[in-house]
Formats: sequence, structure tokens, C-alpha cells
Amino acid sequence: MAVAVALFVSACGGSDTKPEATTPKAPVPAVAETPAQSAYPAGFITAADITLGPIDQAKVASGQKIFDEKCHACHGLTDQKVIGPGWKGVTEHRKPEWIMNMILHTDWMLENDTAAQNLVELTKARMTDQELTKDQARDMLELMRTL
Ligand code: HEC
Repeated sequence: MAVAVALFVSACGGSDTKPEATTPKAPVPAVAETPAQSAYPAGFITAADITLGPIDQAKVASGQKIFDEKCHACHGLTDQKVIGPGWKGVTEHRKPEWIMNMILHTDWMLENDTAAQNLVELTKARMTDQELTKDQARDMLELMRTL
């Protein structure tokens, strides 16, 4: 018994002496900021507002529901254009914050953002603001990440 107690005490003592300076630094975001992002008005989504982890299936399911109700008339989940562009691959050529701002601040984007304006040229149509909340727009981004 005395031996067991002694071992226990020495094991505890040992863990106190572990070095602590090995904590890794926070990972660097994969996508660098572009100058255009600093031109978004206050209150718009920035890269700092979005954390992309493993696909969140609850968000995807919610996004799918919103798609069926509010986006389906003009968008598809393939790369085929309907009235607006198909969404397949959209997260590869647009930054997450651009996508969310396009959803949340559609009119501003169509008036001020060059990429959004180029789309208008292409589609000869104009997306109407669907009045989603930030959380709903985040759900849409999650759905798009799966395509
Ligand atoms: C009335 C038709 C219409 C509806 C409804 C609509 N959109 Fe759009 N959307 C467009 C058009 C058209 C464009 C291309 C920009 C333009 O021409 O206005 C676009 C562009 C986009 C883009 C950019 C795509 C890219 O390739 O860069 C995103 C993201 C988007 N819409 C999300 C949504 C979401 C999310 C909904 C539903 C909540 C929605 N849209 C509903 C017409 C629509």
C-alpha cells in the first residue's frame, strides 16, 4: 500500500514539470484577403465572421429547405444556369464572405461590386433580395460547400 501511494505521488509530481511552450500557433486562413473586402460597408460580412469547419449537416439541411422555398426558381444545384448561375463550384471561385454579402446585401452588391455586376451582364437578369437572416445565409453557404 505504501508503495502504491509513493508511486502515485511521484507520478503527479512528474506531470507538473512538463514544458508548456509547445502550444501551436492558430492556423493561418487559407484564403488571403483582397483589397476589395475592405470596401464593404460597416455591418457587412467579413472573413473574420465566418469559420469553415467540417460540413455541418444541420446547416446543409436548413439551407436545402430555404433553397426549395426561395432560390429554386432562379438557381440550380448543378453548374447549369437557370435565371441565375448554377451553384455547383461557386465556393471555388467566390470567397465565403462575398457569397454571404451577395445573399444579405444583394442590391448593394449589384450596384457596387464588379463581380456581381459582371454576373448581371451575363444573366441579363437581376437577383432580388430574398431577405434572409445572417444564420440563413450561413446555411446557404454550407449547402453550397457540398456541391
Ligand atoms: C429572381 C431570381 C433569383 C432568386 C429568387 C434568387 N436569385 Fe440568386 N441570383 C440571381 C441572378 C440573376 C444572379 C446573378 C446576378 C444578377 O444577374 O443579378 C444571382 C446570383 C446569386 C449568387 C452569386 C452566384 C455566383 O455564381 O457568383 C448567389 C450566391 C445567389 N444568387 C444566392 C441566392 C440565394 C441564396 C437565393 C435564395 C435565398 C437566391 N440567390 C435567389 C437570381 C435569383
